[in-house]
Amino acid sequence: MSIAPNSILALDQGTSSSRAIVFGTSGRIEALAQRELPQSYPRPGWVEHDPRRIWADQIATARAALAKASAGGDGVGAVGIANQRETTVLWDRATGEPLHPAIVWQDRRTADICAALRAQGLEAEVRARTGLLLDPYFSGTKLKWLLDQLPGSRQRAARGELAFGTVDSWLLWMLSGGADASTRAQAVHATDVGNASRTLLWNIHSQAWDETLLRALDIPPALLPRVHASSHVYAHTAPGLLPRILPIGALAGDQQAAMFGQACFRPGLAKNTYGTGCFLLLHTGGAAQASHSGLLTTAAARLDGQAPQYALEGSVFVGGAVVQWLRDGLHAIAASGEVEGLAQSVPDAGGVVFVPAFTGLGAPYWRADATGTITGLTRGSTMAHVARAALESIAFQSAALLQAMNRDVQAAGGQPVAELRVDGGASANDLLMQFQADLLGIPVVRPQVLETTALGAAYLAGLSCGMYAGLDAVESLWAAQRRFEPALAPAQAQARMQEWEHAVRKALAA
Ligand code: G3P
Repeated sequence: MSIAPNSILALDQGTSSSRAIVFGTSGRIEALAQRELPQSYPRPGWVEHDPRRIWADQIATARAALAKASAGGDGVGAVGIANQRETTVLWDRATGEPLHPAIVWQDRRTADICAALRAQGLEAEVRARTGLLLDPYFSGTKLKWLLDQLPGSRQRAARGELAFGTVDSWLLWMLSGGADASTRAQAVHATDVGNASRTLLWNIHSQAWDETLLRALDIPPALLPRVHASSHVYAHTAPGLLPRILPIGALAGDQQAAMFGQACFRPGLAKNTYGTGCFLLLHTGGAAQASHSGLLTTAAARLDGQAPQYALEGSVFVGGAVVQWLRDGLHAIAASGEVEGLAQSVPDAGGVVFVPAFTGLGAPYWRADATGTITGLTRGSTMAHVARAALESIAFQSAALLQAMNRDVQAAGGQPVAELRVDGGASANDLLMQFQADLLGIPVVRPQVLETTALGAAYLAGLSCGMYAGLDAVESLWAAQRRFEPALAPAQAQARMQEWEHAVRKALAA
């Protein structure tokens, strides 16, 4: 006998792992399963994932989490999917086989395509239509590269034989029938507005695939997924995949999902996720606010029937990954968790400033050619100073984003951000969070549930499947675990930011 739905399964397919979490409707974690995702770096600047492996890991973790949940997951009433954004998959609709490894968001192989499009004068057009800019980060030039490189693929795409999708679309298609020949015909090929807004092909104002940009990149429209609200019943899981057939009630890019999980769904609320990179998003309500400070305008998650919602976004390419580099590149620590102790063993960074521009610099600088730089080294500098400077670099980069955001918001007559909600692995680091509050001069607030990406996907799915009364019900579930109040005088914080900007100039000159 099945019981009344009281929990939701969230799939969180990220850059470094595939996770499945069962949440009670109160937001409490009931069960979790996770697998690390192998990374492939076939050439300098290239990053690939195996779409088959993504699928295999994701369905395995979903089954494992359901098996661990109370009553074997019998109370689960919906599935929500959150995904690493921009990562590009191209597959054959008839066989379900990917034509190529997934090209990951971090991959820089299309820098030349971006430069050529820029030379054609397309940047302003791209900005106005998509809220993005011409950078290899986004899916559009990755898809163009695939169609240029794989013989006959553009013609096959035009005939409707191929499907393009970000990882949400790939997982939806597989879950809804694509994984098996007997159910493939019913597989659903779709994405949500948030993921679509990261492709470079979606017009965030007209809410449609943009014909001008599709022409400029020579992309046949027959390849593209249908676009719906993030909270929407997209399909049901195909029979036999999970113990029960479940509605797939949400798709959302992981940063949009985290923003929703942080209950930042009203204008003025901002969150920063400290993962491999850092992603700072500020909700701007129904206004697609253009940035004059190097930020992106992007679609926020929205509910079925709700008007389009927007956010300003800044992305830092190397956030927590700088700690991995201390561990794997420099062998300064044996495990990531040791960094806080090492950094705290000195009172400050001793004048050392670390700009971890390993893959160029993202917003607000957008310099693909910048390289990592450490300044201020003296005879007295130790590994502890470098570790402290590495941690501080995460906060400096995030502070530069927030300053850019405040400039944009104030130029449009709005109020500066009053507090920053934080999540992601490195938000557990108290030293980092305190320094972040000190630099920003506003409180930094850490919520009780740090799995906000998966939680956001769960809430969005629960909403479309009738498990919550509305946004207010979800908002009332958000609770702070700790507030970090700024403790540094504004003049000192400003002096520290100037040290950072000075080091950035050196990284750009190198
Ligand atoms: O835009 C890329 C972002 O969605 C990746 O997030 O958490 O998988 O590193 P994450």
